[in-house]
Amino acid sequence: MSIRVRFIIVIGVLSMLASVALAYASYQFSVKNAMADAKTQGAIVFNMIDSSRMYFKKNQRPLVLELVEEDRFYPEIMSGFVMTRGVWEIFEKRFPGYQFKQATIDPLYPPNKADAEELKLIDSFGKNKEIKNTEGIVEKKGKQYYYFARPISVGAKCLRCHGTPEEAPKDQLEIYGTDHGYDWHKGQVVSTSIVYVPLDKAMAAAKKSATSLFTMGAAGIVLLMGVIWFFLSSGVVAPLAKLQEKTTQISLGKELDEEIGIHSKDEIGDLAKAIDRLRISTAKLLKRCAGK
Ligand code: HEC
Repeated sequence: MSIRVRFIIVIGVLSMLASVALAYASYQFSVKNAMADAKTQGAIVFNMIDSSRMYFKKNQRPLVLELVEEDRFYPEIMSGFVMTRGVWEIFEKRFPGYQFKQATIDPLYPPNKADAEELKLIDSFGKNKEIKNTEGIVEKKGKQYYYFARPISVGAKCLRCHGTPEEAPKDQLEIYGTDHGYDWHKGQVVSTSIVYVPLDKAMAAAKKSATSLFTMGAAGIVLLMGVIWFFLSSGVVAPLAKLQEKTTQISLGKELDEEIGIHSKDEIGDLAKAIDRLRISTAKLLKRCAGK
């Protein structure tokens, strides 16, 4: 295999490996950034919802309870869960993509029903009451999300509406019926407040930037190989071939009067000079022999 081919293969393989490593590192970096972004966004959204619910519970509901006749129940102004759901329905129209759910094992409002993943989460909250919130990555319908979740457990007061239908306010029975959302128990973790931040766009962007980095790297390498090939051909291979041809002629006693004509100031130029000296001394030697 010629020097030129060997050199190109070694440099090419090493540069390709470097370019793959660079693209991979860039992908990892972008994914890490996307996660950090999702975490911040999720924390903001989650805490905003929670804060509005806290305000409602602490400041608004006590006043509402004073104003509304006893035995009446208007969910929109008396339930924190209805309030958060309503706020969220407006928010998600303005910021599509994010999702929020009060995912519940057996809810009054059917769309709050927990899916398989959420049921697992509620179960793990139930088994470990120390956990006050959790976060992580989950896949839903082929899309990745970063989620923030908090457990919701049942207190004695909750049973007025979530205990038996007989005890529940009549207004509630009229709106929600009696089929689901009851028979909860004190201390039971029945639900999780969960926010989902979509990750797929950020992941796709990470993949795209890594791919374009690799493509640019590969194109650069091909160009570099071309330039190296050109310089090796004109600066090394061609002069070496000429020197080989000249040396062969000298060894046959031919072209002894012709200067080699390579004057580059490098190793090849030095070799050319040495062969030139060999040519001159061979010529002298041959003349001397012929004279005898
Ligand atoms: C005065 C009645 C009332 C009380 C008291 C009450 N809730 Fe509810 N709760 C409701 C209604 C009505 C809904 C339906 C919300 C909706 O339409 O989105 C609801 C919804 C929920 C949901 C969402 C899932 C679902 O059932 O749709 C959870 C979780 C929940 N309540 C937990 C609690 C907890 C925990 C307490 C006690 C701290 C409590 N509730 C106290 C009436 C009540």
